[in-house]
Amino acid sequence: MAIAIDDQAELYNQSREIAFQAKAQALELSLALKKLQQAQAQLIQTEKMSSLGQLVAGIAHEINNPINFISANVPYASQYTQDLLSLIQLYQQIYPQPPTVIQEQIEAIDFDFIIADLPKIFNSMKVGADRICTIVSSLRNFSRLNESGVKSVDLHEGIESTLMILQNQLKEKPEAKAIQIIKNYDCLPKVECYVSHINQVLMNIISNAVDALAEKRGRKLKSSGINQNSDIQENLPRITISTKVISSEQVAVVIADNGIGMTEQVRHKIFDPFFTTKSVGSGTGLGLSISYQIIVEKHQGKLDCTSMPGQGTEFLI
Ligand SMILES: Nc1ncnc2c1ncn2[C@@H]1O[C@H](COP(=O)(O)OP(=O)(O)OP(=O)(O)O)[C@@H](O)[C@H]1O
Ligand SMILES: [Mg+2]
Repeated sequence: MAIAIDDQAELYNQSREIAFQAKAQALELSLALKKLQQAQAQLIQTEKMSSLGQLVAGIAHEINNPINFISANVPYASQYTQDLLSLIQLYQQIYPQPPTVIQEQIEAIDFDFIIADLPKIFNSMKVGADRICTIVSSLRNFSRLNESGVKSVDLHEGIESTLMILQNQLKEKPEAKAIQIIKNYDCLPKVECYVSHINQVLMNIISNAVDALAEKRGRKLKSSGINQNSDIQENLPRITISTKVISSEQVAVVIADNGIGMTEQVRHKIFDPFFTTKSVGSGTGLGLSISYQIIVEKHQGKLDCTSMPGQGTEFLI
């Protein structure tokens, strides 16, 4: 009888031990799964961003050469034409009565108009070429493919080039008002960081803000047709980007939107890999989880979010 009780106790202890081990293994497994998901998320996002970076760098490179020809030649073309026009004017002074054919041709081509208009045309060609040069330099700055490792950089440059790349999504469309960008830039020192990664974070957060504004517009249209209050300044779609020096060791970048906002439950999950509220195909749910890794793990920084449903969202880097 005594042996049977001992056996029972032994059995009980054994099964407790087994249950304990199983629990520990389950915990280990779930941790491993989480790590695996994070690694997978990082791989997908890195692949996505590096293809974007390569595409952007490729386009910038291809445009760079031809635009350089144009920029370099416009001033000469302008000067030569000016010289030729002056020469014609000189002829006109010295031979005020040209033969009829020439007189007719002067009238046919509206010579006086050409003289007035040509400098303006050259001027706008120069403005256009300069603008393309700025765009190309922004694109190159964004991709920074040839720069790995830590660099001292002007964060405002990163913000500007990200805005430049997203410009098409910010401007006015037939169905949507332009998104206003309000900048409150402090005088920031150069910041040591992994540039292309920081640009990636800016891109993720600003594109989320653009999506949140589009989502708000969509809901408004659904709920009230054309919204009568939509023209009030307060309601216009807006992204505010502020930078600030916090201490000799810290700077902050705050990106706020007056978009759809999020509930407390959503806000708790935004940094989880693959968490998305967007439809299949439009969101992978990786942007913020990668941004979190970049800011918190890679740069020992902070990434915080505050949000109010229907009011907007603010990200503090
Ligand atoms: N500015 C914002 N306003 C409202 N909700 C936001 C904002 N930023 C992020 N979110 C919420 O956080 C979720 C996760 O964002 P995250 O950038 O990680 O993924 P995603 O934008 O859905 O997909 P993608 O991988 O393409 O970035 C979003 O689906 C959205 O619900
Ligand atoms: Mg996103």
